[in-house]
Amino acid sequence: MTTALVTGAQRGLGLATCELLRGRGFEVLATSRRDPHHPLDVTSDESVQHLAQQLSGRVLDVLVNNAGIALDGFDERVAARTLDTNFFGAVRVTDAFLPLLSPRARVVMVSSGMGELSVLAPPLRAKFLDPGLEREGLFALMHAFVDDVAHGRHAAAGWPSSAYSVSKVGLNAFTRVLARERPLLRVNAVCPGWVRTAMGGASAPRSVREGAASIVWAATLAEDGPTGGFFRDGHPIDW
Ligand SMILES: NC(=O)c1ccc[n+]([C@@H]2O[C@H](COP(=O)([O-])OP(=O)(O)OC[C@H]3O[C@@H](n4cnc5c(N)ncnc54)[C@H](OP(=O)(O)O)[C@@H]3O)[C@@H](O)[C@H]2O)c1
Repeated sequence: MTTALVTGAQRGLGLATCELLRGRGFEVLATSRRDPHHPLDVTSDESVQHLAQQLSGRVLDVLVNNAGIALDGFDERVAARTLDTNFFGAVRVTDAFLPLLSPRARVVMVSSGMGELSVLAPPLRAKFLDPGLEREGLFALMHAFVDDVAHGRHAAAGWPSSAYSVSKVGLNAFTRVLARERPLLRVNAVCPGWVRTAMGGASAPRSVREGAASIVWAATLAEDGPTGGFFRDGHPIDW
């Protein structure tokens, strides 16, 4: 049986993704902060390592990094917390579960159109698009954002006043870096669209199932499917 692990699966897009994957015959490990069987807080090294150890010996065919937050306000604390969940959380989980992934596993980063590179000033955009960018350089950029916010110079440095946007810019860049590091894996970022969840709010045009279908598309790609891309509803979109 093919097995998928999904983060932030208690509600919203994570929950709907699990339901759709189960409907397609997957065994789904639905993880969340409060799950009694597969507890996973993506901001905690201890929690992530504990679950990876608990699952050692298992083979994962799909990893969906869905857990995310969109906090109100904008200051150093919001910037640090947002990046720790949406960016470093996905990195932490991916790295911990890489040894469990099957050689051609699908890795899905649940991103957002708000992470398009157009939110950055051109010189900063060029740094993210540099084909030579590796994880150390990317982590340094993410830390520089928090530092620039703390010192009141983020706008001058070319960042937007949205930690959420920057976290998804980073997640998209990590998608490209991981795809280069692991060419056999199918690693893609997905925008689910604007979806009616606790995060998206009641006015969003898309149902949770419509958004989750976009995620499931990338989770069930053919073996020769794309890698290192950014997609909505199965169609490539701009970085
Ligand atoms: N809704 C939209 O319009 C939209 C658009 C673009 C992208 N997205 C992305 O889609 C993903 C899911 O969002 P959603 O709309 O389904 O929002 P949601 O209903 O607020 O769900 C977010 C999920 O993330 C989990 N989470 C937050 N922090 C976590 C942590 N430290 N460890 C583990 N899980 C954590 C939450 O768990 P708890 O239940 O424990 O809080 C919850 O299950 C996010 O990455 C979001 O950025 C959403």
